Amino acid sequence: MKLHKLLEVLGPFVHYDGENPEITSIENDNRKVTKGSLFICIKGYTVDGHDFAESAVDQGAVAILAERELNLKVPVIVVKDTQRSMAMLADAFYDQPSHKLHMIGITGTNGKTTTSHLIDKIFTDAGQTTGLIGTMYTKIGDQKYEVKNTTPESLTLQKTLRKMVDEKVETTVMEVSSHALVHGRVHGTDYDVAVFTNLTQDHLDYHKTMEEYKKAKGLLFSQLGNSFNHRKPKYAVLNADDPTSEEYKRSTAATPFTYGIDQDADLQAKNVEMSASGTSFDLVSPFGVHKVNIQLIGKFSVYNVLAGIGTALVSGIPLPTIISSVEDVKGVPGRFEPVDAGQSFSVIVDYAHTPDSLENVLNTVRQFAKKRIFVVVGCGGDRDRTKRPLMAKIACENATDPIFTSDNPRSENPEQILSDMEEGVKGENYTKITDREEAIRYAVQQAEDGDVILIAGKGHETYQQIGNEIFDFDDREIAFKAIKQRKEQ
Ligand SMILES: Nc1ncnc2c1ncn2[C@@H]1O[C@H](COP(=O)(O)OP(=O)(O)O)[C@@H](O)[C@H]1O
Ligand SMILES: [Mg+2]
Repeated sequence: MKLHKLLEVLGPFVHYDGENPEITSIENDNRKVTKGSLFICIKGYTVDGHDFAESAVDQGAVAILAERELNLKVPVIVVKDTQRSMAMLADAFYDQPSHKLHMIGITGTNGKTTTSHLIDKIFTDAGQTTGLIGTMYTKIGDQKYEVKNTTPESLTLQKTLRKMVDEKVETTVMEVSSHALVHGRVHGTDYDVAVFTNLTQDHLDYHKTMEEYKKAKGLLFSQLGNSFNHRKPKYAVLNADDPTSEEYKRSTAATPFTYGIDQDADLQAKNVEMSASGTSFDLVSPFGVHKVNIQLIGKFSVYNVLAGIGTALVSGIPLPTIISSVEDVKGVPGRFEPVDAGQSFSVIVDYAHTPDSLENVLNTVRQFAKKRIFVVVGCGGDRDRTKRPLMAKIACENATDPIFTSDNPRSENPEQILSDMEEGVKGENYTKITDREEAIRYAVQQAEDGDVILIAGKGHETYQQIGNEIFDFDDREIAFKAIKQRKEQ
């Protein structure tokens, strides 16, 4: 695409009528620049892309988009906000891929990954080619790609969506983090369905107050559905049991479709019955009442399944297909994932790393645990500190044997993180073992027949970050080995 043509999307106030080179790619990482690239200078937290403009030119960039004049031998186009412009340029350069996909965006504090995987499965089972963008990976058809962020920045996002269109993907489901919404990473992405899971305390380090956090997540809904398309109406799938949904309902022009357990909703689970092996409920929907038996455990799983069913229903998938698909789901890696090495006690690995999700999983464990409950839990470094004492308190309140340990300490001192946790549980009984592997081994050594060990916080992760170093670390593998070793003793 020619530079002049591309810049048209930025509107009449961007004045540029100089050279008009062919743009072969758009990049914001100078290391990726090749001959013919347009390089966009983005001011990040730690680095300023403007400092790399010259090196980009050396690598072959034929034009630069910047927030100030730069003295370079290629055209420099100055705009007020390169981040915002980047989303517009990416959308145009990749020819508006989100318009060609059935786009589903999921936001909320907990359950995004799980719900997105459920949705992906339902659409796949219904015979569609699907795409998925989220915490664990990006998936196009059957092909998986590693990711850096749960929601990529606009350039990578539009490029990924383009690839999906090219590979004949019909429906794309993506996790939309609140950071991504605030930073405009999804600007220009045309969602057809926006899904809300729930809103509880998390990321307050970043958003400062719940009010701001609520607004951040709400952007997905307020930006949805302002132009009606009668052939393809837009929907907001909302959790009726979460009071925030009322606000999101008011802020969107899309048609609301609600799900819930306790409150009346368009889609409601009644007579929920739980066991250690699964959950059953009566699904009350506009299509009548149907018995559903899922293999997932816990009330929160019912919410995720309802969100998935609601999304599939508003997307026109027949209810019987949807039900058989959700009944078939065994689980999502690292989400309430059992570790089974033939031991006589249960070991469960779960990604719960927020006060609310920890409380939820522990409540779920309590519903079937017959004896002691061990919980191995820590809090990540360089992240919200206010949740540390809360999580420790929840561990002590809901488990018989809380064991505090490290999560990903990152640049923080692991001992300091543990002290922050201990602030919330003065005078309570708990064990403190800084080394996570040791903590898991300790729990495995102590457990007896019928006990449950919950290893919380890292779920599917296969590494641990201490300082700047990243070590191989997989809770599931370590627990498995510890159980084996105990048996050999
Ligand atoms: N609907 C839910 N409500 C509360 N907690 C949940 C819900 N779904 C999952 N969880 C808990 O949160 C953890 C993270 O789930 P995940 O699906 O990865 O959410 P996210 O992608 O939003 O972080 C799970 O391991 C589980 O403990
Ligand atoms: Mg996630």
